[in-house]
Amino acid sequence: MDQQVAEQLREAGIRIRERWGDSPLAFVRTYGCQQNVADGEKIKGLLAEMGFGFAEGPEEADFLLFNTCAVREHAEDRVFGNVGALKNLKRRRPEMVIAVCGCMTEQAHVAERLQKSFPFVNMVFGTGAIHRLPGMLLEVLGEGKRAFLRGCQEEARLEGLPVRRDGSSRAWVTAMYGCDNFCSYCIVPYVRGREKSREPGAVVAECRELVEAGFKEITLLGQNVNSYGKGLSAPVNFAGLLREIDKIEGDYRIRFMTSHPKDASRELFEAMAQSRHIPHHIHLPFQSGNDRVLKEMNRKYTREKYLSLIRAARELMPDITFTTDVIIGFPGETYEEFQDTLSLIEEVEFVNLFTFIYSPRKGTKAAGMPDPVPHEEKTKWFAELLRVQEGIASRNCQKLVGTRQRVLVEHMNEKTGLLQGRTPGSLTVDFPGGPEKIGAFTEVQVTEAKGPALRGVEINEI
Ligand code: SAH
Ligand code: SF4
Ligand code: F3S
Repeated sequence: MDQQVAEQLREAGIRIRERWGDSPLAFVRTYGCQQNVADGEKIKGLLAEMGFGFAEGPEEADFLLFNTCAVREHAEDRVFGNVGALKNLKRRRPEMVIAVCGCMTEQAHVAERLQKSFPFVNMVFGTGAIHRLPGMLLEVLGEGKRAFLRGCQEEARLEGLPVRRDGSSRAWVTAMYGCDNFCSYCIVPYVRGREKSREPGAVVAECRELVEAGFKEITLLGQNVNSYGKGLSAPVNFAGLLREIDKIEGDYRIRFMTSHPKDASRELFEAMAQSRHIPHHIHLPFQSGNDRVLKEMNRKYTREKYLSLIRAARELMPDITFTTDVIIGFPGETYEEFQDTLSLIEEVEFVNLFTFIYSPRKGTKAAGMPDPVPHEEKTKWFAELLRVQEGIASRNCQKLVGTRQRVLVEHMNEKTGLLQGRTPGSLTVDFPGGPEKIGAFTEVQVTEAKGPALRGVEINEI
């Protein structure tokens, strides 16, 4: 760990006990994608190292932190609402410290708004400054100042920081930070800085530790994992990194996200097909099925290139499944162009879709484009797409009835009392069983498809 960070951690631990006694409590709420979840686990690692225990909710916390997402307006509105609601809590307990971090705070207008309109927020820091948390907390606790930090992209200093993982069977491992793609609708490159790959040795070592600690699923993270390796001294690409991790002995799965179609390659599919630990599933966002819209989005591939990737992957792995992200109602998109998105969905038969209605993001190129289609109209397209996908998802599920699947048991569904496991192809199966199975692999016979959900029984229960 960075020497300066280690010293600040120790000193902050002393100040924290002075302020809040021997059992201080922290509460961290994370919004957004897995990258933010992974950041949240580092933040919690630092907080635990400084002596914090963790509260169930904001009410009893001494240190409260919102780790935010900026990808759509709705996500930001929720954060402003939830931060605003803390005003009364802070009035009742003025000794508490409130912090906001993550993607939202990297935008100048958001940082300004927090500074001016939310005076009870004590500290604000951005995505590349997690290691600065102890130092900033020292400033707040010592001098009673408000601490603000943006634009500090020092990811290298995150190596070796403690991590407090949320679970004990599935783990997130960062392969690369940032994004250089500047898709015209997207805020991520502005709030996460430039692409930086972690050293392959560090990634592989972290994966090995996780496997040795009994983790069953490792998900490698990056906004565009397929461009992994740029700027490293070691000549390694993402397929090479996967091959290295796959060499680790043990009973585990490797997943990864997100793959950008412009950089996905046959070599990647070969690495998947030849691996022992990578399930035959890929999350490959296409965003739009229309070439004009793709060009306006600055995605740098065509519909045909996307479909040729799907064909190549299926050729090497006939049982491969696909999931994807789609945007509906990009500025200027017509109903006819939207139909191309529908037909692509029908052609590929994704097992799952993450569908978003376009949300303008200040400072992005698309935010300045004319957007004549009213929101209500886009909502209708959205519903149409969901109807089509429901049919596809049901057909995909039907295909699995009667098959045997090795699932990783993720949790128990509280409503049904059934366990829920995930197949290698990333479909969920519900089946009866006890909570002791959570976090382990088990074999399930799929007995039924109920719309887009699967039902089954454990093999040893038959
Ligand atoms: N790096 C990933 C995606 C990260 S953001 C990739 O390139 O695929 C996750 C998803 O949010 C995107 O795939 C996109 O579908 C959606 N998204 C991003 N910006 C958006 C916006 N302004 N409006 C609506 N959806 C958006
Ligand atoms: Fe956003 Fe595009 Fe980067 Fe994904 S690749 S994070 S959509 S800019
Ligand atoms: Fe949101 Fe930041 Fe992820 S904007 S989607 S939390 S990279």
